[in-house]
Amino acid sequence: MLSYQHSYHAGNHADVLKHIILGDVLAGMFNKEKPLFMLDAFASRGIYALDSEQALKNREFDSGIGKLWELRNYGNPQGVARWFKLIATENPEGGFNRFPGSTALLHNMARELDRLTACDLHPQEFDKLRESFQANRRFSLLKRDAFEALKALLPPKEKRGLIFLDPSYEIKEEYRAIAKAVTQAHRRFATGVYVIWYPLLPAERHLDLFRELKASGIRKILRVELDCGDCFPEMQMSGSGMLIVNPPWHAEQAMKDSLNWVCDHLTDGKGKKYFGWLVPE
Ligand SMILES: C[S@@+](CC[C@H](N)C(=O)[O-])C[C@H]1O[C@@H](n2cnc3c(N)ncnc32)[C@H](O)[C@@H]1O
Repeated sequence: MLSYQHSYHAGNHADVLKHIILGDVLAGMFNKEKPLFMLDAFASRGIYALDSEQALKNREFDSGIGKLWELRNYGNPQGVARWFKLIATENPEGGFNRFPGSTALLHNMARELDRLTACDLHPQEFDKLRESFQANRRFSLLKRDAFEALKALLPPKEKRGLIFLDPSYEIKEEYRAIAKAVTQAHRRFATGVYVIWYPLLPAERHLDLFRELKASGIRKILRVELDCGDCFPEMQMSGSGMLIVNPPWHAEQAMKDSLNWVCDHLTDGKGKKYFGWLVPE
């Protein structure tokens, strides 16, 4: 446990879909002027150096940001444009070497009235998180178990919240553990927006996650997925997806536009995309 380090994978095709869709969901929640609580339960280090030894080992970013960067100045869908802008902000000298992760995205998008908590248990990841961000009254960094944080921090006082669950799935039981944690959290905070990332791997363990969530009784679970097929044969993970419990309806068109764009440009339209309910209303 905790041998996983996201720096080996940062900027890959899954990070592209993950961060763009996460941004779309959050933007869709901003239609109300009410305060929001955000929990980045598996935060990692927030910002990744793509010239690090880890990132350069397999150059997974070539399957993602490396392939897309040259398209940044075209008329892109709003979620894609927002993501490119964030990367450009992190890299005032140009390029995309400092690649923003989920915490950087949520931190950048948060409004004055919102609160953000980011957790990671890995000592090295947590130290980097602390180096990159200044905690304050509205932004907490916790070296804390994500499953425990879910129990302790929900429901939030704001009564509105985005919970991002992006585990490393180092052990196969984690798919079920995530479903169980969401089911329990949903009992205490049924109106929360839960965004769960999953990989598409040959063992297809994401189907355990689907099965458990379908059996949980939770309604309104949207599935947004891209299988890149054999576009990146050197990678074991052929694609990825996000399950979104209580997706803000304002975000729906933006997410569709983002998924289409990512599929067109990462896989030259050859990928298989899915946008629809895992469990309807
Ligand atoms: C896939 S990475 C997260 C990537 C990040 N969300 C992003 O998009 O930039 C998963 C992270 O979860 C951390 N982690 C694994 N198990 C954890 C647990 N039980 N509690 C908190 N963090 C955990 C790992 O150390 C790793 O940094």
